[in-house]
Amino acid sequence: LTVDWEAGHYDTGGYEHYLLKEISEQPDTVARTLRGRLDDRFHIAHLGGLNMDARETRSFRRVKIIGCGSAYYSGQIGAQLIEELARIPADAEPASEFRYRSPVVEADTLYVAISQSGETYDTLAAVQELKRKGGRVLGIVNTVGSAIARECDGGVYLHAGPEVSVASTKAFTSTAVAFALLALHLGRVRDLSPADGRRICDGLRRLPDQIKEILALEPQIRELAGKYAESPSMMFVGRVRGYPVAREGAQKLKEISYVHAEAYPASELKHGPLALIGPDMPTVAIVPDDELLDKNLTTLGEIRARGGRVLMVGHRTTDPKLADDCVVVPKNETELDPILLSIPLQLFAYHAAVALERDVDKPRNLAKSVTVE
Ligand code: AGP
Repeated sequence: LTVDWEAGHYDTGGYEHYLLKEISEQPDTVARTLRGRLDDRFHIAHLGGLNMDARETRSFRRVKIIGCGSAYYSGQIGAQLIEELARIPADAEPASEFRYRSPVVEADTLYVAISQSGETYDTLAAVQELKRKGGRVLGIVNTVGSAIARECDGGVYLHAGPEVSVASTKAFTSTAVAFALLALHLGRVRDLSPADGRRICDGLRRLPDQIKEILALEPQIRELAGKYAESPSMMFVGRVRGYPVAREGAQKLKEISYVHAEAYPASELKHGPLALIGPDMPTVAIVPDDELLDKNLTTLGEIRARGGRVLMVGHRTTDPKLADDCVVVPKNETELDPILLSIPLQLFAYHAAVALERDVDKPRNLAKSVTVE
């Protein structure tokens, strides 16, 4: 069974575009991904669809995450959450690459496939290859009953509702939230303390209200998008937790506004891409208040010294010598901050695309669900 989510079957709910509607829905969609899954007594996550007992859950020594495009970037956030909270080595890889490189499939690896549509051909083919080789595969999927959901051994549904606009937004944040739940679950059957479990549960509960606060920044972000959208090219940088956020921010911008965008780990700038920096290439820098704050601020200074303009997205404003503009979002637990930091970049891409008069919901050359090889 598949659900037909073609634009036209759903209205825009008074918004100018499906994309803005879907960005604005995120307080609700994140709440729906969390609903009924947080346990206040033991500070654990209830994920009934995993179909794994505690012994099996403890047996995995590695987690491998696969998905395409934005699903892959949300998987990078997921890998970091699993490493931080469950202390299991985890990494993400594009499903499209994974399936072609004859991967070594190990019995003590937990494989996680991500897909909003549940129909992406490359992800489905990767899951089928894993299953053929005896791999244990969970799905983090939005569309109930989709091909990928059916193929997996178990998984987590997002319950984010239909996503119509080609650019993924609410599925991205809900996937990151689902990974936080999975990481909490894996962590609490291992060594994550009840106190840390409680800290993460409380942080997850704060997300919907904090997303509302970010959505209230829309007038500021619209103005910034109008200003920066005139640039032919933009750089997005972040370190560690900020890096997948930067990648997704660049993806959103190029996908719907057609402005060229590159994403790099901030630490890699000096190994090559710094040569691109100048007045024509502004940088969006993801600068959370974490242990890497000082290093990130140093990077901003290096960019400014080369004549580059900087739009900083973080938890505080900074010296105007380091950033031309700052978007300040509410702080959550450090591990959960990437979820919130990604939302201003969705609004930024949306308003850049509107300012450039693009076809926001149906960008050229792209389909909502890539069901071909
Ligand atoms: C997201 O904005 C893109 N349209 C695209 O990268 C998408 O995330 C990718 O094609 C995967 O789709 P899926 O989640 O439906 O599998």
